[in-house]
Amino acid sequence: MGILEDKANARLFYKYLSQVYDRINPFIWNAEMRDEALRELDIDSTDRVLDVGCGTGFATEGLLQYSKNIHGLDQSAHQMKRAFNKFGRTDDVKFHRGDAERLPFADDSFDAIWSSGSIEYWPNPIAALCEFRRVVKPGNRVLVVGPDYPDSWLFQQLADAIMLFYDEAEAQEMFETAGFVDIEHHIQQAHPGTPRAITTIARAPTASDTVDTSVQQQVGDPAVAPTND
Ligand SMILES: C[S@@+](CC[C@H](N)C(=O)[O-])C[C@H]1O[C@@H](n2cnc3c(N)ncnc32)[C@H](O)[C@@H]1O
Repeated sequence: MGILEDKANARLFYKYLSQVYDRINPFIWNAEMRDEALRELDIDSTDRVLDVGCGTGFATEGLLQYSKNIHGLDQSAHQMKRAFNKFGRTDDVKFHRGDAERLPFADDSFDAIWSSGSIEYWPNPIAALCEFRRVVKPGNRVLVVGPDYPDSWLFQQLADAIMLFYDEAEAQEMFETAGFVDIEHHIQQAHPGTPRAITTIARAPTASDTVDTSVQQQVGDPAVAPTND
């Protein structure tokens, strides 16, 4: 497990990175990539949408182009302070400080869930994805952007030491284990030679979908009681 796949380490990291995040972020995750991914989620103007790991609000800004009912959640007070400066504390976006693995929301309470650039810090991504499935309405979709696994051996060693990098097969397994269906993956890249992003879109099952629950029973039931930390 990478050094930043630890909630306290990630909070400390973002205490400092938040100062420069908006300036360096576009080199690997830019507005063009964000907007392309947003089109895939197909958000309706009346949708209630959750942005998990919203950070300084880069993707939140894109989500606001589709719906005015956006909730942003992040575990870093420093990142969220910068988001408050952009959107106000409660005006355009409803902000929540909390953990992706313990979402402080009721079952079936969102029409869509978005999360970009955050999964790589979660110690238990499957627990978080189970939480996504719990709070998104049955039949509705979630979209997660994370770092694609590098090709070169050297970068693989570096990547594994820092955080979660994963390929399509691993993404497929994580989403299936969390109980999602209709899972699709796309690779995005800002410029040739820069790190690739892997975008996964999946649908929460309805009663008429057949889901292999034996896989979920093997990993236990990671869904946890909502908190407001
Ligand atoms: C790379 S930033 C992404 C920000 C934004 N989503 C974007 O697209 O630019 C990752 C964010 O995930 C947040 N994060 C990391 N682990 C988290 C967790 N367990 N729960 C909630 N947020 C988390 C970090 O605090 C940070 O703000």
